[in-house]
Amino acid sequence: MTFTIEPVVPSKEQSGVDFGVIINDLDLETISDHDFEKLFETVYTHQVVVVRNQGHVKPETQYELTKRFDPQNIDLYGHGSMHRSTESVIARDISPLPAVPQVQLLGHGVVKNHYGIEERKLTHPSHTVFHQTSLTQEERDSGLTRFYRWHMDAALYKLNPPKVTTLFGIKNPESRRETVLYCDGTNDKLDVQLGTTAFISGQRAFEILPQELKELAFKTKVQYAAHPYLWMSKARSRPTGLGMVSEGKELSPEELPPVEPEHVKVYPMLWKNPVTGKIHLQVHPSAVQDLIIDGKPVGDLEKVRDILYQIQRPSISPENVFAHEWQDGDFVIFHNRGVLHSVVGSLRETDTRVFHQCNIASADDPIPVTEKDFAPYVVQTTA
Ligand SMILES: [Fe+2]
Repeated sequence: MTFTIEPVVPSKEQSGVDFGVIINDLDLETISDHDFEKLFETVYTHQVVVVRNQGHVKPETQYELTKRFDPQNIDLYGHGSMHRSTESVIARDISPLPAVPQVQLLGHGVVKNHYGIEERKLTHPSHTVFHQTSLTQEERDSGLTRFYRWHMDAALYKLNPPKVTTLFGIKNPESRRETVLYCDGTNDKLDVQLGTTAFISGQRAFEILPQELKELAFKTKVQYAAHPYLWMSKARSRPTGLGMVSEGKELSPEELPPVEPEHVKVYPMLWKNPVTGKIHLQVHPSAVQDLIIDGKPVGDLEKVRDILYQIQRPSISPENVFAHEWQDGDFVIFHNRGVLHSVVGSLRETDTRVFHQCNIASADDPIPVTEKDFAPYVVQTTA
């Protein structure tokens, strides 16, 4: 007997959520080789897999399981050691577990005697430290919030993006409701459970593009900034968490550690799913420095961000967002090269949340989409 897969049942507002499954009858501590193979396929087919009732899973097991999804990996946490620089926008959110440093502790509130950590005060990322504008304390206390930062887990300099991320919800805050506001001139909003993790499918992000933007995406390469999380550390995000506002606040090359040009990452905008062969639009918007369209760099950061926002904004519209309602013991495995995700929530001083996260930089580049892969999307014009 193997495990069963149930699709997530999104609310009627989430009509565009065509990904995500839940598994109730699997124990990750004792998973068989056969079940791992099925789990592997499931992650790439459904993008986000929630395995319920895994509260007993040990950090070593999480690490070994994560590694198993990418046997060729280079055995280094997805951000290498770069996230430890205190200026980095990543450093403030996570701390490695002493015994298994590839597994990161994150959450909210004080954690004591936790897998070698004597005591640590965790802080759930708040948009107030990252967005250009913020909701007021009063608004946040009344249950309003924002997406913090839409991203994939990736260093985007020197290291290739991890293929999967495992996110283990050990302890969650009370399940009160919050409303995500987009605050971008639309009235878009989304009802979520406190402390949700929001996901969007890169496959759908591609599918919903109008023809001309599909073609633009196909011929565009994305150049990421060197040391991107330091580079963006003084800049501020759009209110949707989908990319940055252009105010000239990015660090100059002189303010950054030395840049080795061979480590700068340039990836296609479209990546191929290794199992389904489907096309995913996959861009980490806040870390982008330039777009190279038909071989020609745009060379203007504000313009680059505007083009990207036009391409990516439809994908985060409320109907396309899967906002997972965490239960204690949920072990989520997601296709990090096929979805974007965001922290969400305005947690109070008294809320607690304890999570373990693991992903491992890959030896492999993302798989590009070829002319042949794109052929079904080319409109044939007749004379
Ligand atoms: Fe993440």
